[in-house]
Amino acid sequence: MNHDFFQSVDKDFADVDQLIGQSLTSDIPLIEQIATYLIAAGGKRLRPLLVLLCAKACGYEGRDHIKLAAVIEFLHTAMLLHDDVVDASDLRRGRKTVNAEWGNPASVLVGDFLHSRAFEMMVDIGNLRIMEILSHATNTIAEGEVQQLANLRNLGLTEQTYLQVIARKTAMLFQAAAHAGAVLGRANRPTETSLRDYGFHLGLAFQLIDDVLDYEGDAEDLGKNIGDDVAEGKVTLPLIVAMKNGNNHQTSLIRETIKSGGTKNLGAIVNIVNDTGGITYTLASASSEKDKALASIQDISSSIYRSSMEKLVGFVLERPV
Ligand code: IPE
Ligand code: IPE
Ligand code: MG
Ligand code: MG
Repeated sequence: MNHDFFQSVDKDFADVDQLIGQSLTSDIPLIEQIATYLIAAGGKRLRPLLVLLCAKACGYEGRDHIKLAAVIEFLHTAMLLHDDVVDASDLRRGRKTVNAEWGNPASVLVGDFLHSRAFEMMVDIGNLRIMEILSHATNTIAEGEVQQLANLRNLGLTEQTYLQVIARKTAMLFQAAAHAGAVLGRANRPTETSLRDYGFHLGLAFQLIDDVLDYEGDAEDLGKNIGDDVAEGKVTLPLIVAMKNGNNHQTSLIRETIKSGGTKNLGAIVNIVNDTGGITYTLASASSEKDKALASIQDISSSIYRSSMEKLVGFVLERPV
């Protein structure tokens, strides 16, 4: 798949990767070992990319965008370490998860390390508005994860509440990355708002597609297992639609599977989610977020950075990973 939306900032990105590596240092060898294990596995680095593109689109000429991008990737990675414990996942970025390899305590604690290292680096940037954006974002993400936890196995979950959860747990960090990039670039208020909204809608589209991929994706491409959502009783939009449109037989199979957990009926559930329009509906919702993301940046001055942002939206919709 074409990743040329990285091209406009590829030199800066090399610096981000270098800084990420340098910032993982600790006197405690286990921290370095685990943090390096997960960071070296890669990941798509979409959130740091957003920081660079938004700062540059605002004409930023300084060097703090490199640090800000690393901060965002650390926050994201810390959340993944905790998320994989919460979700009992055993595959991430094509490798065994840290919890599967070292256990839950190590995963939680190294998550805390990355989280707090991110805050140290953020303080170093020394911009109070950026600290405000990022501390609010991390707080909101925690709320989203807890809200999702409280709704586990809840087949009465509405589309509206589902959207609230994904806005908090995922779109918020995309939004914060774009917004903080704009603030660093000293954007005027309308531009700041446009970029913030772009990040938000991109993040919603990203999670909607992620939730489709949990039914339709390929574990090898994704580097994480598919079917995890059903197995752990996580109700996402494809399933909400299936519950609404399905016949008695279909909805009782879903009910039974979500109640008992596990992947026993996964094949049948995937068919139901397809036959009842759950996948089509979720893809259409993602596509509408895509349109909103593109509309948000239409008034930003045109530049190679803005075109990269447009391409990035396309990637999020088409991505196999
Ligand atoms: C995973 O995000 C967490 C979600 C919000 C679905 P990514 O799919 O961006 O993870 P990496 O960084 O590329 O591994
Ligand atoms: C991840 O959500 C969101 C955060 C890390 C806060 P998911 O649990 O749906 O994502 P994956 O499937 O583990 O990547
Ligand atoms: Mg998860
Ligand atoms: Mg999760």
